[in-house]
Amino acid sequence: MRSFSVTAKGGVEKCRIVCRARALSKLKEAVGGRRTFVFTDENVLHLYGRAIKRALPGAFVYAMKAGENFKNPQTLFELLQKMAEAKLNRASVLVAVGGGVVGDIGGLAASLYMRGIACIQVPTTLLAQVDSSVGGKTAVDFCGVKNLVGAFHQPELVLIDPAFLRTLPPRELRCGLGEIVKHGALDGAIFDRLAAQENLFDLKFLAEIVPENIAYKLSVVRRDPHETGLRKCLNLGHTMGHALELADGTLSHGEYVLLGILYEARLARAHAHCDGEYLEALEALCRRVLVCDPAAFDVEKAAEAALLDKKNTSAGTVVVAAPAKKGEYVLIELPYAEYARELARIRRELC
Ligand SMILES: NC(=O)c1ccc[n+]([C@@H]2O[C@H](COP(=O)([O-])OP(=O)(O)OC[C@H]3O[C@@H](n4cnc5c(N)ncnc54)[C@H](O)[C@@H]3O)[C@@H](O)[C@H]2O)c1
Ligand SMILES: [Zn+2]
Repeated sequence: MRSFSVTAKGGVEKCRIVCRARALSKLKEAVGGRRTFVFTDENVLHLYGRAIKRALPGAFVYAMKAGENFKNPQTLFELLQKMAEAKLNRASVLVAVGGGVVGDIGGLAASLYMRGIACIQVPTTLLAQVDSSVGGKTAVDFCGVKNLVGAFHQPELVLIDPAFLRTLPPRELRCGLGEIVKHGALDGAIFDRLAAQENLFDLKFLAEIVPENIAYKLSVVRRDPHETGLRKCLNLGHTMGHALELADGTLSHGEYVLLGILYEARLARAHAHCDGEYLEALEALCRRVLVCDPAAFDVEKAAEAALLDKKNTSAGTVVVAAPAKKGEYVLIELPYAEYARELARIRRELC
């Protein structure tokens, strides 16, 4: 078992993150005598509904339809309505059991209901365990923009159990590995662990590496709880990855992050002071997870999509947090036209 605690500046928000086996059996003790509402999705309910009901007999359970398509205000308000019907009060607790979609909507509902009630996160995907459940960001998509409406709301507890990964399809494991490799590109010790591991999909290995990834993400979040500066390093791989994701959309988010890391590593080689040998090893790591051809994408469409990505684009330039040396990243700012040319050049290089 490993446990972390997060206290934001001023000591106001507190969150405990516990990685342990049989996490569900700890839920009853965690919620105590409080009125409890479990929010999940239909897939997770199908797989773990009985275990959830056994762990929290008497709790209200509500499942949304699974997937990003349902991460919208309608689902949020349906959840809030169910919470009101269950007569939750200020002292109640919402337990979100699921992937990042459930965690983001559940966390946002908890932050809104009666101006904020307690929330416990039980992340069941690899991505949610190493990334979305840590840091207190919550949101829904709105007006066609991802995560446009949201809030910062730290859960009081995040319970992480590697056993959930046993039922995850390979695509979802690749998705989580995208963020893990990103952490590896920012942290030398994680990179070494990944590079030395033969089978990156081995569940025993993943169970070991999840707490290390949480520790890394927390070290960043602690220094920048409301994403004003440093936390932007977590955007590594996401500028080019997100552009490819908007243009293509057939792979999981983490796979686009891996493609983004691969493209951005090549960008760094052309534009920044970097370690070529290391970047080759990083690219090899990305390729060990990916099952697609990195050259098989419409990069012109991706460049157009990048223009709409307000997070990374300002005043006609695109800012990329790219890998440079082991444990180091570099910010590369390019005029939009050059950025588009670079995407096309890198794709040609990959052919
Ligand atoms: N808040 C943050 O800081 C943050 C960070 C990164 C990503 N996110 C968000 O996270 C979301 C993506 O999360 P995700 O990748 O977990 O997607 P997801 O929640 O849609 O889960 C992926 C799929 O796996 C299924 N699933 C969940 N647990 C399972 C299990 N144990 N076994 C089998 N199937 C299971 C789900 O039903 C779903 O079909 C995005 O909306 C993204 O914006 C948020
Ligand atoms: Zn991501």
